[in-house]
Amino acid sequence: MIVTIDGPAGAGKSSTAKEVAERLDFRYLDTGALYRAVALVFVEADASPTNKNADALLSDCSIDLRFSTSDTLRVLIGDRDVSDAIRTSRVGDMASQVAALSAVREALLPLQRDIAARWSRSRGGVVADGRDTGTVVFPAADLKIYMHASLEERARRRMQEYEEQQTSASFEDVREEIRARDEKDRTRDLAPLRRPDDAVVLDTTSLSFEEQVEAIEALIERAKAGTDVSASH
Ligand code: DC
Repeated sequence: MIVTIDGPAGAGKSSTAKEVAERLDFRYLDTGALYRAVALVFVEADASPTNKNADALLSDCSIDLRFSTSDTLRVLIGDRDVSDAIRTSRVGDMASQVAALSAVREALLPLQRDIAARWSRSRGGVVADGRDTGTVVFPAADLKIYMHASLEERARRRMQEYEEQQTSASFEDVREEIRARDEKDRTRDLAPLRRPDDAVVLDTTSLSFEEQVEAIEALIERAKAGTDVSASH
């Protein structure tokens, strides 16, 4: 079973997808991590985000996602574990630039499908999150969810994450960072962020984390049972 969760930055997609996957013994496919890995390659090569550079840089590196023996998702470039190195804001910013390149999207499309095929053979299903997982990568997914929340709420959640990581930032800067990221993701020509026509919309502005997880678990149960999920939200 393939479940896709798309939506803007900070809507809670990744933490929710991860938890749902864990509870249902599915695998969590973090497609943003792949864009971030490509971005790290660009940052380390000090390369500007162009298709030409993407062709050159991606031809001699292999990016993959694996699970460690303790079942934690690890992001690899060749044999190197870059799971932590891809989480900086510099890499996040570069990720939104490389995500607009056709050479990058074309390279990551078969990789995402290949990972999902591999994982769904070993587990009951895959929960993928990103911006175009329901529209482009897995158009025939069994369940598509579009998760969003107000800009204010997303900024508040991102602030909380920063506080937990002991990174200092002002609320206004964080809100502006998210707003700018939204605009870039929504207005790019290639695979822009948009709600798949057949997605269930989940507005998480006033939902707790537990409520988000339970809402998605319930949608998956309904999809498994073959019930029309669009009627539930
Ligand atoms: O979700 P994230 O912040 O880790 O994603 C990093 C960037 O990659 C973000 O700017 C959007 C982009 N992205 C994308 O274009 N398509 C995806 N399926 C996932 C992420």
